[in-house]
Amino acid sequence: MATNDNNRFQAIIAHAKEYGFVFPGSEIYDGLSAVYDYGPWGSELKKNIRDYWWKSMTQLHENIVGVDAAIFMHPTTWKASGHVDNFSDPMIDNKDSKKRYRVDHLIESYADTLPQKEAADLLGVMDRLLSADDYAGLKKLIEDCQIKCAISGTSNWTDIRQFNLMFKTEFGAVASENEEDNIVYLRPETAQGIFVNFLNVQKTARMKIPFGIAQTGKAFRNEIVARQFIFRMREFEQMEMQFFVRPGTEGEWYRFWKEERLKWHLSLGMPAEKYRYHDHVKLAHYAKEACDIEFEFPMGFKEVEGIHSRGDYDLSQHQLYSKKKLQYYDNDINEATGKPYGNYVPNVVETSIGLDRMFLSVLSQAYQEEKFTKEGGSDDSRTVLHIPPKLAPVKLAVLPLTKKDGLPEIARDIMKNCRGDFYCFYEEKDTIGKRYRRMDAIGTPFCITIDHQTKDDQTVTIRYRDTMLQERIPVAAIKDHVTEKIR
Ligand code: GAP
Repeated sequence: MATNDNNRFQAIIAHAKEYGFVFPGSEIYDGLSAVYDYGPWGSELKKNIRDYWWKSMTQLHENIVGVDAAIFMHPTTWKASGHVDNFSDPMIDNKDSKKRYRVDHLIESYADTLPQKEAADLLGVMDRLLSADDYAGLKKLIEDCQIKCAISGTSNWTDIRQFNLMFKTEFGAVASENEEDNIVYLRPETAQGIFVNFLNVQKTARMKIPFGIAQTGKAFRNEIVARQFIFRMREFEQMEMQFFVRPGTEGEWYRFWKEERLKWHLSLGMPAEKYRYHDHVKLAHYAKEACDIEFEFPMGFKEVEGIHSRGDYDLSQHQLYSKKKLQYYDNDINEATGKPYGNYVPNVVETSIGLDRMFLSVLSQAYQEEKFTKEGGSDDSRTVLHIPPKLAPVKLAVLPLTKKDGLPEIARDIMKNCRGDFYCFYEEKDTIGKRYRRMDAIGTPFCITIDHQTKDDQTVTIRYRDTMLQERIPVAAIKDHVTEKIR
């Protein structure tokens, strides 16, 4: 990461903490690695992103419905899904410091220290070796580059081994003789809660193929190198949708969702040049085709969402392990045979976005340190979050100019009238300029000021965050005005 970008990233992290967006988890105990808590404005922003995704997926698509499945699932789920055997990353330990590294992260960190061309060549070699599961080759690459452990400073490495990323815990109060009986996993993805409920949902919601099932919720991965703030966490939230289609049509649906999901990001006003697709060469154990939607974070282009054509892998596996049929009867007529398509295991196209990564993309896009000239000609500056108004934690700040002369009473009436419709924030302390700055810093798109003129003509000043322009509007128009702009 270039120094400027790193400074910007550090400034965003500091801002997120100072203004109540994201705190290090268990901070009073010096934090817990790669675990974060969302503060008052962070939890609002996160909820707004989740709601926007949920509404776009379910309410705006007649053929997509939601579920809210449990985090704990029968342990066989993870055997069937392939996670017990395949959900692992190649790791290497430094024998002196005993620190364990993900091989790709270790090499990537080293590449960051090289000139661009050399780094690109090195990463190219690494990708080829990873795709071929060539662990001896990867170890040799680490040794040839003389990559050192950041803690011990030595290159005394173990062989490369696979390390499963699922967290295990125990179920029930009584210890069983066979400890394995009690083991359950914290789900590493929300998708499996959708697959095991495929028939329950299809039958109860009377869905006809093609149709989708959406879910949001926590997922857990024992990431070895968890860094870069909320980009890679051990506990995070996913927003996933599995779209069930007739076999043979998965390619066209994969292309459809690939485009549709990018449009969703752009519908928030995020700039198109900050996005790109990354088509996978090395496919996950379940995938037929896969790509990432990457966003340009302060630390470079990185995955924010994955689109995967999963074939019938998951439903077939669950059928096999549960010995229950997970099939669909399609009574549409197949033109080729003149008969109904009949029974089959549907194919699946998945869209999977990390809520925390989406949060980080919105926050890093929104963050600006601005210098400007005030009306009188003097220089000023501000730190502002240009969060899309429909996602902003607080939509409207209601600010009486003074604490007296009946202005707070008018302001309180405005609060009462608006807060049922959108999040409002009342404040009467400090100068109006300071209050504007605080609202800029948490991304409030509209501030209204109630002054003495309000008493005479029932108008207020509305101040727009992005332009800092101000205009007078009638008190009676405030609610509609703001509603219109956040819709
Ligand atoms: N069901 C498919 C699946 O889970 P994935 O690419 O492993 O696919 C999907 O994860 C999304 O979840 C990623 O694009 C990313 O946004 C998010 N994600 C994955 N691991 C994460 C982590 N450790 N911290 C934060 N977000 C993560």
